[in-house]
Amino acid sequence: MQKIPKLLQVVLIVVGVYFGFVLLFDFILGQVIPSSLLNMYMFFIVAGVLAVYTATEDGTRELVAPIKSLVEDPSKKKTRNIVFAVTPVAVALFVYLQLVPSLEAPLELRSIHPAPPSTVKIYGKRFDLRTLVNPYRKLEEEDPEEFRAMVEAGASIYIQNCHFCHGDKLDGQGPYAAGLNPVPLNFQDVGTIAQLQESFLFWRIATGGPGLPDEAAPWISSMPVWQEFLTEEEIWQVILYLYDYTGRRPRSWEE
Ligand code: HEC
Repeated sequence: MQKIPKLLQVVLIVVGVYFGFVLLFDFILGQVIPSSLLNMYMFFIVAGVLAVYTATEDGTRELVAPIKSLVEDPSKKKTRNIVFAVTPVAVALFVYLQLVPSLEAPLELRSIHPAPPSTVKIYGKRFDLRTLVNPYRKLEEEDPEEFRAMVEAGASIYIQNCHFCHGDKLDGQGPYAAGLNPVPLNFQDVGTIAQLQESFLFWRIATGGPGLPDEAAPWISSMPVWQEFLTEEEIWQVILYLYDYTGRRPRSWEE
């Protein structure tokens, strides 16, 4: 450390700690931390490092020596002029870039229908999504009357729980929809449930936004975790209703 000038040591430590935080949170813990919190940590790091380096008078002198010589040494006139010209421009540019509003939507590569995990834990049980089927789907042929009753039950579950966001016409235009980002999905659209298997819907409804895999992030979905509010049976019924109302068919494995 002796050969590295003190000023450079300080800069290296601060930059090192910063990237250490980024590495720890982004890559090891996989957590998002607010930049204001990171700034606060960095403030204390800088203050702490400076406190250590300026603890003695000699240390302080050594620390500021390069700055002092840049300002005072006549032989450094050229460097000084460059630094004095570039620094204010760089600071001005930085401030400008911070303040200028961006009209572009943030670039987020997100996957609207992320690949489901092959097995999921729902209601404390393991489900294999590749083989899971809606237990009531077979009633459609075997017992149409019972099937209608299931769809009706699904309809009232939908109106009580889902229409606030997904809309009473299942078009994603519920009263809360305007305030949500990402928006609630429009089940009438050919790009949603018509492309999906019922097991996929079961997974998405039961585990909601928090159940989305990492590839769907950073994506703060407001879709609730319905396994906390509905029974397994109710989720299968509401799925029947989604397809029945929209007149779409779930995708099946045979296709
Ligand atoms: C608080 C608002 C809200 C409520 C209430 C809500 N959802 Fe959602 N839902 C969303 C949002 C937002 C999305 C889109 C983001 C996502 O996929 O997580 C979504 C997505 C979905 C999807 C994924 C569809 C696809 O194509 O991937 C399904 C299925 C779904 N909701 C079903 C339901 C059902 C069934 C209910 C009622 C039991 C319900 N939702 C209630 C907000 C809501």
